[in-house]
Amino acid sequence: MSMEEFSLGDRVVVITGGAGRLGRRFAQTVLRHGGRVCLLDPGFAASERISDRELRMAVDITNSEQVKSASEEIRRSMGPVYGLINNACLQPEGFFRSMEEYSLETWRKVMAVNVDGLFICSQVFGREMADNGEGSIIHISSIYGVSGPDFSLYKDLSFNTPPSYAASKAAVLGLTRYMATYWGHRGVRVNAITPGGVQDGQPEIFVNRYSKRTPLGRMAKTNEMDGAAIFLLSDASSYVTGHNLAVDGGWSVW
Ligand SMILES: NC(=O)c1ccc[n+]([C@@H]2O[C@H](COP(=O)([O-])OP(=O)(O)OC[C@H]3O[C@@H](n4cnc5c(N)ncnc54)[C@H](O)[C@@H]3O)[C@@H](O)[C@H]2O)c1
Repeated sequence: MSMEEFSLGDRVVVITGGAGRLGRRFAQTVLRHGGRVCLLDPGFAASERISDRELRMAVDITNSEQVKSASEEIRRSMGPVYGLINNACLQPEGFFRSMEEYSLETWRKVMAVNVDGLFICSQVFGREMADNGEGSIIHISSIYGVSGPDFSLYKDLSFNTPPSYAASKAAVLGLTRYMATYWGHRGVRVNAITPGGVQDGQPEIFVNRYSKRTPLGRMAKTNEMDGAAIFLLSDASSYVTGHNLAVDGGWSVW
């Protein structure tokens, strides 16, 4: 295999949550591998054409009309969509409440972005890919979609990992398998990446506890999701579908 297989060769990749930490990083990675990007995120003040390779759109993925009109605009201005990284997530007010105190309102807001938004984007862009006979969709899950949390990591800290996150990230894996078999015969591959915790200014005590709990002995760096994303988007993984690629330092092995 040559490095050619890892090139995206001008293909258009849509990234939801493209203004966030991992979203920005995925965008740089796609651009470095020759692709073009459309970033959907209400975090952008306005829609803006950054270059002939990058379009940023202030789009709320829970709004199917906004997603549909974004897809038409992308097709008009950049051409057919080949890739989709369903990466957006939401931590609304009350996100870190305990199981007993968790409000249904917060639960629904999390589900609306992490599950409904992913479903809407997959419906709109997946349909286009299936009509074109090719495409690659990546869902971003989490270790908490795969394993139960070790609550001792969060003892006496102001944050934790809530039930809405576990439920939404497990749903993402179910949809990965469903969509892989649904669209497989039409040339659309659907896979998941399960990132472990990325080190990003968390308190030292948490970083130490997390590192001890991880076979590789540390948290992830933001750039360590790049290889998985390019592998799953590119022809290097042309016979891979329905797979969940854990990039978690071995967390989910124990
Ligand atoms: N950072 C980590 O440690 C980690 C670990 C495991 C999994 N993940 C997963 O990776 C993905 C990215 O995480 P991150 O750390 O970059 O998060 P982030 O909070 O930095 O970025 C998420 C982005 O999603 C956007 N978003 C929220 N609601 C939206 C909507 N309705 N429509 C479109 N975009 C919306 C936000 O504006 C934000 O820019 C998430 O799915 C997350 O669950 C992250």
